[in-house]
Amino acid sequence: MSSSFILLCLIFSISLSITTAEVQAQAQAQARKAGKSFRARALVLPVTKDPSTNQYITTIFQRTPLKPVKLTLDVGGKALWVACDRAEYNSSTYRPALCNSPQCKLAKSKSCGDCWDGPRPGCNNNTCSNVVYNTVDRSGQIGDLGTDVIALRSTDGSNPGPIVRVPNLLFSCGSLFLGENLANGVKGIAGFGRTETSLPSLLSPALGIDKKFAICLSSSKGVAFLGDAPYTLLPNVVISSRLVYTPLIINPVSTVHPIIKEFPDKSWPSMEYFIGVNSVKVNGQIVPLSPDLLKIGSKGNGGTKISTTSPYTVLHTSIYNAITKAFTKAISKVPRVGPVAPFGTCYKASSLGSTRLGPAVPSIELVLGNNVTWTIFGANSMVAVNNSEVLCLGFVDGGKKPRTSIVIGGHQIEDNLLEFDVGKSRVGFSSTLLGRQTTCANFNFTSRA
Ligand SMILES: *[C@@H]1O[C@H](CO)[C@@H](O)[C@H](O)[C@H]1NC(C)=O
Ligand SMILES: *[C@@H]1O[C@H](CO)[C@@H](O)[C@H](O)[C@H]1NC(C)=O
Ligand SMILES: *[C@@H]1O[C@H](CO)[C@@H](O)[C@H](O)[C@H]1NC(C)=O
Ligand SMILES: *[C@@H]1O[C@H](CO)[C@@H](O)[C@H](O)[C@H]1NC(C)=O
Ligand SMILES: *[C@@H]1O[C@H](CO)[C@@H](O)[C@H](O)[C@H]1NC(C)=O
Repeated sequence: MSSSFILLCLIFSISLSITTAEVQAQAQAQARKAGKSFRARALVLPVTKDPSTNQYITTIFQRTPLKPVKLTLDVGGKALWVACDRAEYNSSTYRPALCNSPQCKLAKSKSCGDCWDGPRPGCNNNTCSNVVYNTVDRSGQIGDLGTDVIALRSTDGSNPGPIVRVPNLLFSCGSLFLGENLANGVKGIAGFGRTETSLPSLLSPALGIDKKFAICLSSSKGVAFLGDAPYTLLPNVVISSRLVYTPLIINPVSTVHPIIKEFPDKSWPSMEYFIGVNSVKVNGQIVPLSPDLLKIGSKGNGGTKISTTSPYTVLHTSIYNAITKAFTKAISKVPRVGPVAPFGTCYKASSLGSTRLGPAVPSIELVLGNNVTWTIFGANSMVAVNNSEVLCLGFVDGGKKPRTSIVIGGHQIEDNLLEFDVGKSRVGFSSTLLGRQTTCANFNFTSRA
């Protein structure tokens, strides 16, 4: 380990709850002192949950001068987009992606044009554009492509390290209007999906880090990692060595809401991460399900995906009914109470016992490709409602014709670490960390001294 690395660690040994000025000063100091001598292996992002929208929120630093930008995390999202409205976006290092530039090709942009209201970020002549998606409320618009500086924290897997500054990172310009249903203070979406322009795809070659990422969501403050790191949570629990893996599946047909039909996005393969659910068990008993719904059909319908923009798991009606029936049967002795929307199966909290892994309810197992089992215990299956007096089975009926049969949502993946390894075409998962005496809120965000 070089002495300059140790020096850097000393220079940047401060907590993540830092001000913008500090980040700027550090980024500049690092650019001056370190040059290219520091090579990050991985990056770390804080991920909080917004209680009023159930969105998972992260913060990156972007622009010159650097500014913190709050973004909704979408693991299946196409790219980074931020609001470029005149009053919102001001940066001396913004550059439009000029027509026919490599950036336009990377984004598969097929449109190019002028803008009369500029020049300013998001409005320039001879600039290519693409569809910008708000995957939370399924809206979209056409927005310019551009590049700017972003800055993120490196990590050794246990603590944050020096700030890493990436110049000319490609992103899309959206607007405050497009993001009006995002959580308060959020100015765009951080897309981690299977595209050439998602944040992991752009940061991997830019920094020479592995093309993979991990998310560890929490109902309070979770964490995401980009690149290769020994994901370590307090008290010194190394999660990366204890993951089990299931193959990633490519859905050959786009699953994004077709907002602007003429645009080519809908002819791409899905940007979202699909895995194979081969069967579901409740309390160890196989639940009868139609195999056709579990498979991805020729039009891209069916199958199972992981979503951070869906707060709860959403199931095809017949899967929902079958799982609910098996679940209620397994605890038929406990009296049910009335449904609390959007949930149908609810119990008085006081009539269910509690365990280290949450309310004492039948376990729900997903038997996945590669014959590995993801077991969902009470903490992830039950949702507290009505001031925690009522606990409901946290699955939502997605109707008889959903695009995807099983959408595994936020509540079911909290306190589970999920690693999306596109290079090795697999998803690693930890199953509940509560069984390992830790949680996703246990990353040590204090920099090492
Ligand atoms: C953008 O920032 C520059 C320098 O900080 C400032 O001079 C300029 O007035 C700002 N422009 C807008 C539109 O806020
Ligand atoms: C953009 O192009 C239009 C004509 O297409 C021109 O009138 C305008 O001055 C140009 N704006 C800039 C900033 O170059
Ligand atoms: C939950 O609260 C709502 C509104 O306060 C009430 O109408 C409903 O009956 C409650 N449900 C249960 C199951 O207690
Ligand atoms: C899958 O795993 C289970 C238990 O781990 C085992 O009982 C079963 O035989 C396996 N099935 C196949 C097809 O390998
Ligand atoms: C978090 O990391 C810092 C820096 O290494 C260390 O001083 C601190 O003791 C750690 N916190 C806990 C709770 O271990």
